Amino acid sequence: MKPVVAIDGPSGAGKSTVAQAVAGELGLPVLDTGAMYRAVTLAALAAGVDPTDGPACAAVARRVDVDQRGSTTLLDGRDVSAEIRTPAVTDAVSLVSAHPAVRTVLVEHQQTWLVARESGVVEGRDIGTVVFPDAAVKVFLTASETERARRRRDESSPDQRMTIDEVRADLDRRDRFDTSRAVSPLQPAPDALRIDTTDRTVDEVVRDVVDCFRARTAATR
Ligand code: DC
Repeated sequence: MKPVVAIDGPSGAGKSTVAQAVAGELGLPVLDTGAMYRAVTLAALAAGVDPTDGPACAAVARRVDVDQRGSTTLLDGRDVSAEIRTPAVTDAVSLVSAHPAVRTVLVEHQQTWLVARESGVVEGRDIGTVVFPDAAVKVFLTASETERARRRRDESSPDQRMTIDEVRADLDRRDRFDTSRAVSPLQPAPDALRIDTTDRTVDEVVRDVVDCFRARTAATR
């Protein structure tokens, strides 16, 4: 068993908020793997690479250096935290992240990240199923479609703001793609703790996850 909290789920389920708070509570580093796929997508678009071209996207993934310092994402040393959230990247990231060769590169980086730190909180879509199937705690977060759309819209910058219905259609399209792709589809690990965050406060969810992690890791000490 690895001393990892794996947090998976669809967009807008609250993964980043919960991951940051759990990490703060446990004093552990946090890794946002969605930001890694976004950074590779940004690099591919900047290089004029077609997001549907798997080998070319994988070559980009191998070539670039993606790093995270807290909530800042660095691409070859440059802060791209805002750029990776633009609609152009959001539109292309599902295509880029569906290529098995891209995933192989990033999964290896994610596993290496843990080796250097020994313990951490990692959020994404395949963390409990593929990246750390032996994580101490696996959490699968969900929320109602309307709530997820509302959260995503509130996170977007005012100049890029869409209506709830537009955000909902976009989330639905991405989630359907992420859930139905052949490699590492978004799905809960069989032993994941499933938490619907629609009507729960962040504090309540964080408490459940932290308690579970403490109980599991204490049991093996
Ligand atoms: O969590 P996010 O919206 O920033 O993720 C961006 C995209 O990356 C999302 O469409 C799915 C993909 N992704 C993935 O395939 N595997 C992960 N571990 C994390 C994200």
